[in-house]
Amino acid sequence: MESAMVDLEIDGKKVSVPAGTSVIAAADKLDIYIPRYCYHKNLSVAANCRMCLVEVENIGKPLPACATPVAADMKVFTQSAKALQAQRTVMEFLLINHPLDCPICDQAGMCELQDIAMGYGRCYSYFNEKKQATYSEDLGPLVETWMTRCIKCTRCVRFGEEVAGMRELGVVNRGTHSEISTYLEDCVDSELSGNIIDICPVGALTAKPSRYQARNYELLEVLGVALHDCVGSNVYWHMRRFQHKQERHVMATVPRENVDINETWISDRDRFAYCGLQHDSRLLTPKLKSASGEWRDVTWERGLAEAADKLKAILQNYGANQLAFIGSPNSSTEALYLLQKLSRGLGCDNVDHRLKQQDFSATEPLDVAPLGMRLNDLENQQSVLLIGSDVRYEQPLLSHRIRKASLNNAVIMSINVKRLNANFNIANQIIATDILSSVMQLAKALGVNHSLLDRVVVDEELESVATVLRDSEGAILLGLYALEHPQAMLIKWFAHQIERAVKGQTLGCLTHGANSSGARIAGALPHIDCSGAFIETPGLTVGELLGDKPVKAYLLLDFEAENDVAKTAKAIKALDQAAIVICLSSFVTDSMHQYADFIFPIAPYTECSGTYYNVEGRKQVVSASSVPMGDAKPAWKVLRVISHFKSIEN
Ligand code: SF4
Ligand code: SF4
Ligand code: FES
Repeated sequence: MESAMVDLEIDGKKVSVPAGTSVIAAADKLDIYIPRYCYHKNLSVAANCRMCLVEVENIGKPLPACATPVAADMKVFTQSAKALQAQRTVMEFLLINHPLDCPICDQAGMCELQDIAMGYGRCYSYFNEKKQATYSEDLGPLVETWMTRCIKCTRCVRFGEEVAGMRELGVVNRGTHSEISTYLEDCVDSELSGNIIDICPVGALTAKPSRYQARNYELLEVLGVALHDCVGSNVYWHMRRFQHKQERHVMATVPRENVDINETWISDRDRFAYCGLQHDSRLLTPKLKSASGEWRDVTWERGLAEAADKLKAILQNYGANQLAFIGSPNSSTEALYLLQKLSRGLGCDNVDHRLKQQDFSATEPLDVAPLGMRLNDLENQQSVLLIGSDVRYEQPLLSHRIRKASLNNAVIMSINVKRLNANFNIANQIIATDILSSVMQLAKALGVNHSLLDRVVVDEELESVATVLRDSEGAILLGLYALEHPQAMLIKWFAHQIERAVKGQTLGCLTHGANSSGARIAGALPHIDCSGAFIETPGLTVGELLGDKPVKAYLLLDFEAENDVAKTAKAIKALDQAAIVICLSSFVTDSMHQYADFIFPIAPYTECSGTYYNVEGRKQVVSASSVPMGDAKPAWKVLRVISHFKSIEN
């Protein structure tokens, strides 16, 4: 139901907002800034800092704008003498115990207290008493604390309770002695914990990995997309250029608001993954393994020419079927497109990106929006059934959406091989020894007819899950465990039958990697090309290429066979027997030194432009935030050069 609209006036400007809106939100709509500390549009109203006091016509005392709902014909004054006097007085109180830390404080330059003190503070204080100092607890490796700077706005406490779903911080003691604490001096455990750094208006909570490393005015803010799960959260990268160097380094990653994807939050993995970009294992020059097994640095020209020669030799001597081109579901769509183009240009359909998949028994259709709905639709479901999904760890921001649905009275159910440590209530948590069996029971309970179900006996708990599915509109989500199951195709097939058997349920897949949809669009599949057409005689799947049907030559794009594929030992064995393995990678590992013959440094996601499609099929284009480090090149450039190499062309 639409809320009634209320007309009011703020600083002489008229505005119309839904009934129940706060004065501060109405002022924001008019771009009239009211100073605030405790107010945050995505958190409940605490109204404890009083910084937002404004004058309202016919009301004797100033009112907090964040806790005052609009009323018809209300007249608000945010800059009147009375309002300014109230705001200045509050500012004076807030600064009583605040340390003069700005020169050494990481927040300086982006501090709400500093900014507002410039506008509303005084240059003197009536308070000559000693300032209060507060003990700073160790919250773990990510969040640095300096609690003497805390102004007790409680944003961090409310974030934990309302968004992260974990009450890790709270207020202890009363009045002037109140402190923000974990009670038991414990680490914060939430996978969204880094968000308290952003919402803390002062330098009480800052990022530990980037502590004392840069000042705000040294940083360039660049638009980015986080590539650590299928959500594709929008971020800003804060980049710093060091003297005498062309490249910029990421010094911090913070959320970029996008209400449809990540709202104002990001996961800790998205926030702190940049720390790995400068790791010692970062590859900065092309490398070639000599006949004696020694690795040496080579120029790009020499390395690529030799790699192309060797690929050509395999092609001529053994045919195109002895080549394999395997990409990563995290690579950009452009790189994956060129990978399959190179492969198919040589007459080879052995191209794939489904590194973690084990079951290739059925030909998968081209599904470029595997979630089947928009991300924010998730929070409006009446029920959510998670099958083989540990969503809190796999896609923390989807878990946040499911938590919102749960708080909205949705029934959340799970079928998994382990008990979930979720941040929402799970009404039915089924711990199955085999999730395929549970899915088949559920299908039978919902009236699906198939000979495989003839002998299936339905468990009581699954009967109740079936009842909820029948009586609600909701989402059935297949997680990574289900999609990477040895019988994933059967699980998917029965899940589809369940979706068809009940009205109002939508089946979605929470896919592996950040650009699984983009890889499919690009045609990085052995059975579908870049036009979406099915190939009559498909090539070998990644399961076969890195399993029981190894080939002579491999080009591996942007992944580590020892870490990123379903069956590591088999993959290493397949690569060890190959005549040539070319790796395009940002990092080098000991195993890679064993199985590879060429390792070419490619730019990681922050240093390379590209297009990515998230789990709902949303296209996002990212521009490189810096020139690549060292001699690294964007993967698409390397693939383009290889495919144009004379020795392969002729
Ligand atoms: Fe200065 Fe802000 Fe740090 Fe306080 S929190 S010391 S005002 S920069
Ligand atoms: Fe507010 Fe920061 Fe103190 Fe938490 S630590 S109450 S966010 S000032
Ligand atoms: Fe309104 Fe804190 S912002 S009381």
